[in-house]
Parts: sequence; structure tokens; C-alpha cells
Amino acid sequence: MLTYFKAFRRTLAVAAVALAAFSLQPGSAQAQDPTARPGPGVVGGTRAAQGEFPWMVRLSMGCGGALYTQQIVLTAAHCVDGSGPNTSITATAGVVDLQSSQAIKVKSTQVVQAPGYTGTGKDWALIKLAKPVNLPTLKIADNTAYNNGTFTVAGWGAATEGGSQQRYLLKANVPFVDDATCQKAYGGALTPGDEICAGYLEQGGVDTCQGDSGGPMFRKDDAGAWIQVGIVSWGEGCARPGYPGVYSEVSTFAANIRTAAASLGG
Ligand code: ARG
Repeated sequence: MLTYFKAFRRTLAVAAVALAAFSLQPGSAQAQDPTARPGPGVVGGTRAAQGEFPWMVRLSMGCGGALYTQQIVLTAAHCVDGSGPNTSITATAGVVDLQSSQAIKVKSTQVVQAPGYTGTGKDWALIKLAKPVNLPTLKIADNTAYNNGTFTVAGWGAATEGGSQQRYLLKANVPFVDDATCQKAYGGALTPGDEICAGYLEQGGVDTCQGDSGGPMFRKDDAGAWIQVGIVSWGEGCARPGYPGVYSEVSTFAANIRTAAASLGG
């Protein structure tokens, strides 16, 4: 409990700094006083260290992503408009501070939105970059072995429900929630084979939120390497008790992602 409140207080401090430096909602009461709406605020996260998650990418439409290869970003289908040539997206990589002069910025050339995506399930997409970036990539889970335990999530999205986007990358840990339990919260809105849930079911307080979409949910594999098991997709509000975060189940789509990446040529 103590650690939890420490993390909470620190996030509010981070949120306050970010709001002052990077306010996107100058008119809202919440933007002026983030403490006015206590809601453990990524919600419930702390600042990621520079280089801690080197494959994290911020996309210009306001989503997250991860380097699947040095020239292909894995993100969410709902973050893109469709498939085909696309030079309108800018990926920012290599930094936790989006305003850093060290930021690597690369434009997109092509997008593959999950074939058959209609807004339910299949929430993945690939974005090919104009040139490779010299950064580590994040491998994806191609079987269900790691679809359990405690996951890490990271992103520049809102640190409170309805809050503003963040300048600095935030991270948090969230426990796996099984399909049956998650279906109790979401009923038929959940596509269990395509989606994996995570969060503190009883107490809420820690979650991804708007603007984190497309970013990875990951954990350590048996060899101690990071492996991506989810893609930030949706949830009822953010960090609400009883409503876990819903993530695309990467292992379900691993073969399709591989094929799509091959079609993009690396
Ligand atoms: N759909 C949101 C986005 O576009 C992500 C929401 C995640 N919500 C949650 N409660 N985990 O950024």
C-alpha cells in the first residue's frame, strides 16, 4: 500500500510538470489542477529511464508503438486509417522526452492494417519507416506461454482519465486478468481469442489510457529478455475498479504479423 501511494504521488508530480510544460488542454479545470481529481494516475505509472525501453515509439497521430524491426513499428489497427502507401505518420524514437533534441524522427512510407479489421478484435497494424533506426527491437510472443504473470506497459498517453498527453514516457506494471474474469466486466464486447486483459481488478488505479494505444504490453521471458504479449487497445475509462485494460493478444496474431512484415520488406 505504501509503495502504491508513493507511486501515485510521484505520478501526480510528473503529471503536474508535464501539464505545465506540455499542456494540451489549457482550458480544463483538470489541466490546471491535476490533484483536483484524485485517480491514481500511463495511469498509476512512474517515469521510465532513458534507454529502459529503447524500442518504444511515439506516433504522430497520438499513439504508441514498438519497433518490431528497425524499420517496422507494431501498433494498433485503430491508430491507422487503413492499408497502403502512407507518408503522413511521423515516428519519434530513441527518447523518453518527446521534446529532446536527441529524438530520432522518421516518416512512414506504408501501413498494413490487420486484414479483416472491422473495429472488433484484430487490433494490430504495421507501419514501415522511411529508413531503419539504429535501436533495439522488441520480439513478439508467438505462443501463449507468456500470457500470464505481471506485465509492464509504457506510453505517453494520459496519466489520468480525461487527462492530457505526456511529454515524458511513463511505465507501470499490471497483473494478467483471465478471459472469464474479463468477460464478466465486458461481456460480448470482449473477443477472448484476440484479446488479453490486465489490471488490478478490485482496486483499479493502474492502467494504460488514451494515447497509449498501439504501445506494447510486455514482460520478461525465461531467458530474461523483454517479450511483447499485448498491444494497448481499449478499456472502460482508465484504471477504474472492475474494468481491466484490454490488449490485443499478440501471440494470436504473431504469424499474421510476420507475414505482413515480410510483405513490407523488412
Ligand atoms: N483506445 C485508447 C487509445 O486509443 C487506449 C485506451 C486504453 N484504455 C485502458 N483502459 N486501458 O489510446
